[in-house]
Amino acid sequence: MVETHTQLWPTHILEREFPGHREHKAGLLTLVDQYMAEHPKSRAAPENRHLYESDYGIIPKFYDSHPGVRALADFFVESFIEISTAANKDQWELRHLDTSKFSIEITGSWFINYLSEGAVDPHIHRNCSWSCVYYLQIGETTGPRDGGTFFISPFNKSDSDDWGSIYMAEASRSFKAAEGRALFFPSFLVHGSHPYQGEINRVIFSSNARISMAK
Ligand SMILES: [Fe+2]
Repeated sequence: MVETHTQLWPTHILEREFPGHREHKAGLLTLVDQYMAEHPKSRAAPENRHLYESDYGIIPKFYDSHPGVRALADFFVESFIEISTAANKDQWELRHLDTSKFSIEITGSWFINYLSEGAVDPHIHRNCSWSCVYYLQIGETTGPRDGGTFFISPFNKSDSDDWGSIYMAEASRSFKAAEGRALFFPSFLVHGSHPYQGEINRVIFSSNARISMAK
């Protein structure tokens, strides 16, 4: 009899550097300043505290005119494809899908300018399969809980010292925020950001994506 190992509900997270960070940081920060000057009212959301959030159409709005937005969007798409492939390769093959016909759609793209003590409470993103956060600007931090991004375990499991389930023992995981770094994660994962008390404003760009088959 053939043995079968099945992994149900794995949680993929991809952490990587935006290669254009040094080149585009200043231009993206200028865009953020200009945008906030032209749109003084932040998007309102119940999970947001002490921050300014743009509307959700930043990439389509600036892709053609802003080299930094274009480079960042291309980096997001490439990374979404990478993490989607890691998570779905077996299923795509099993279903004999022609992945060359896949089309990836950025369903939302925005930036957040955090003020002192700015934070985002736990939430999820809808109408998408993958999401990301890119740290455009942040000063020195004392660790993952200082301005970092946290994820809550999708498993309803109490803490235990059972070595048989050590791979899922954490109830939550916080990632240290570092300039130029980006995190890609499944949109169903409950997440948020810890307050940051540094001197420099923390500024992030985020986006959501979904993949469909071209007809
Ligand atoms: Fe979020």
